[in-house]
Amino acid sequence: MENQDFIPIYEPFVAKNQKKYVLDCLNSNWISSRGKYVDQFEEVLQKYLGVRHVLTVSNGSVSLMLILKALGIGPGDEVITQSLTYAATVSSIENVGAIPVLVDSDGRFQMNLSKVKKALSKKTKAVMVAQLYGDSPSLVWLKDFCTVNKIHLIEDSAECFGSKFLGKSIGSHGIASSFSFFGNKIVTTGEGGCVCTDDDDLAYRMRLLKSQSHIGGFKHDGPGYNFRMTNIQAAIGVAQMEHVSEIIEKKKKLAKFYREHLDRNIGRIVPQIDSSEWMPLFTLPRTKDYLKFHIRTKEEGIDIRPCFSPVHQMNGFNFRQGTSFEVCEKIHSKGFNLPSGPNLTKKDLKYIVDTVNEIIKEVD
Ligand SMILES: Cc1ncc(COP(=O)(O)O)c(C=O)c1O
Repeated sequence: MENQDFIPIYEPFVAKNQKKYVLDCLNSNWISSRGKYVDQFEEVLQKYLGVRHVLTVSNGSVSLMLILKALGIGPGDEVITQSLTYAATVSSIENVGAIPVLVDSDGRFQMNLSKVKKALSKKTKAVMVAQLYGDSPSLVWLKDFCTVNKIHLIEDSAECFGSKFLGKSIGSHGIASSFSFFGNKIVTTGEGGCVCTDDDDLAYRMRLLKSQSHIGGFKHDGPGYNFRMTNIQAAIGVAQMEHVSEIIEKKKKLAKFYREHLDRNIGRIVPQIDSSEWMPLFTLPRTKDYLKFHIRTKEEGIDIRPCFSPVHQMNGFNFRQGTSFEVCEKIHSKGFNLPSGPNLTKKDLKYIVDTVNEIIKEVD
């Protein structure tokens, strides 16, 4: 293959107006977490996602803590989530003093719903489902399960901005949800995130907590946090949202191209929902070694990334094992993502596919 410049795993979309709006913040000196762009960004997200309340926050990790805290979940409580997820999902539960109860994945790398039942206990207060790689398990099932058992459904939708389940935005199905606007997300503010809910009381409690529980005049309702997003970050977000359909269209095309042109020995994990295709997920043939594949793609200038590692296999987490973990232990080391940024050109995609298809034959 003819080697070309290094292709990173993800480059953020450059929105036409982001510089202009950021300069507006700088020129007007509205650079902290107050300013018109924070309000505008929250409004535009609210409309786009179809939820009553959106609160911007500093990232998609503290957002999860904020939800748990505002729901009153803490020491002595259990929250069911999956082992195979980005660690932030599990950390948020531990960080409020509650116990994560970890369950296995299904063959699509999502939370295994048949295992969730087994993980339920008298202490369970919520299920936190992480919707990975733009896909989601059945939210109808999860909602019913949570309603029947009188527990909360929390969506960690960090990777699912713009995806829909049965025509309704991911992030609008549970009591509350969280998105990440990190640089590799569909819509980015550099670092950043938001929480969403239709529940007015919960929104009120989260708004207080994210800003030191300040009720005015240096009076505070109790301990709180500073989880606020800056006006500068929100300005980038507003500019990005002006292109959200274009970004998602590019992502869908990219995923389709990969699925159509990659070697047929490479497995495709195809989302079962109307997905915005954050990072299409592929699997290596059983006999191939990820590390060798990774080294060779890097040598050819292609940045690939492995699937998340199951949290139960990492030291330092304090969890209760809800189920056995056969599936996630078996599948995680075969999952990988290819460069997935919306700026990739046809030439980039062709180079990636041709190169990967050659390497897959060559490595063992
Ligand atoms: C599933 C999931 N949850 C939470 C997060 C945390 O978001 P952030 O990086 O904005 O803190 C991420 C980040 O990529 C994620 O993938």
